[in-house]
Amino acid sequence: MSTTVILRFRGWVLGLASEHTTPGRLLLACTVGGMIGATPFFGFHLPLTLLAARLFGLNRAVVYGASNLSIPPVAPFLATACVVVGARLAGMDVRFDSATAHAPWSLGRDLFLSWLAGAPVVGGALGFLLGLVVGGGAWIRRRRQDPQWALEQEVMRRFSGERRSIRTYVRCKLLLDPVYRGLIDTVPKRGNVVDLGTGLGLAALLLGLDSIERVVLGIDHDKDKLDVAVRGSTGLRVTFVLGDVATYEIPPCDVVLLIDVLHVLPPEGRGVLLGRIRDALAPGGVLVVRDMDTRRRGASWTGAIERLAVGVGWNRGHAPEFFAADDMVASLASLDFDTRVVANAGPLHPGNVLVIARRREGAPQ
Ligand SMILES: C[S@@+](CC[C@H](N)C(=O)[O-])C[C@H]1O[C@@H](n2cnc3c(N)ncnc32)[C@H](O)[C@@H]1O
Repeated sequence: MSTTVILRFRGWVLGLASEHTTPGRLLLACTVGGMIGATPFFGFHLPLTLLAARLFGLNRAVVYGASNLSIPPVAPFLATACVVVGARLAGMDVRFDSATAHAPWSLGRDLFLSWLAGAPVVGGALGFLLGLVVGGGAWIRRRRQDPQWALEQEVMRRFSGERRSIRTYVRCKLLLDPVYRGLIDTVPKRGNVVDLGTGLGLAALLLGLDSIERVVLGIDHDKDKLDVAVRGSTGLRVTFVLGDVATYEIPPCDVVLLIDVLHVLPPEGRGVLLGRIRDALAPGGVLVVRDMDTRRRGASWTGAIERLAVGVGWNRGHAPEFFAADDMVASLASLDFDTRVVANAGPLHPGNVLVIARRREGAPQ
């Protein structure tokens, strides 16, 4: 059963929403409510909102709440904005300064029609803005109830002494990239984990914080990033070592991570690296590759961002060359891995997947 809750921000009531209403549906509900509330159908807003909520499967309380943006002190300004915008959209000549030149009934008709034409645009825009606040509030509320939120806050606290660009990057990355949830759900709670191309060590630190029984080793050739990661790892069973993944001798382990790394390694060396990872993994051990699947939607956008990150020097590596997940699965199968591919795309990085490869138990050492 869905319960309706009141969304608050610093004591202000932002809106009503069902626990099961997603932030996206809240945004839509507010936009529709705003459109209806801006129309000149006073007295009918309630039935209209109930009808629209039913038609589009939206939360009735939210649609009706948003329609109340035309409350008395706001209504005259809202109506004027709708008339001005609507007259422009409909190509009508509604001039308030020459009201006496109009016949009263035709002026009334023009006002009504232009108001009606402007209501979806003006009301929809205001409802959308309201929806951003209400939907954003619901999203943050939900995130705070999530156990991963506390881990992310702890990682951010550990980076609080770093320069602003690093802090902003870490905040956005933790907020928007689903890879960390994917890793926490996938990587066993105990065992030795090797994170190749660890960068700032975000995955390594989260995994180490999530379970004290994980011993994590992060490798990267970027000393600047690694120094930041080292400073963040105080008191954890997480170690960072400067090294080139192409030559670093991977210690025996239970899990290897290659998160957004394979595409910045020279293609000719990838097969050899995967073979070395297989040899380092215990039977039943897991390799997790996160990268962009060239056959998925949005891949070209993600590819452009990754190229930019290397181009401006944020990521140091070979010029990005991406691959299809199916080809990766075939390579891993020939190395005695059982593999599955799951979507792992964020809003800024569509087309990303997790390739989760388990080394077969009976595979030769
Ligand atoms: C896109 S970043 C990913 C960082 C991290 N895995 C994450 O997801 O936050 C790629 C990282 O791979 C590292 N890298 C690229 N080529 C490398 C190499 N040959 N040896 C070690 N690290 C490398 C870069 O320095 C960079 O930190």
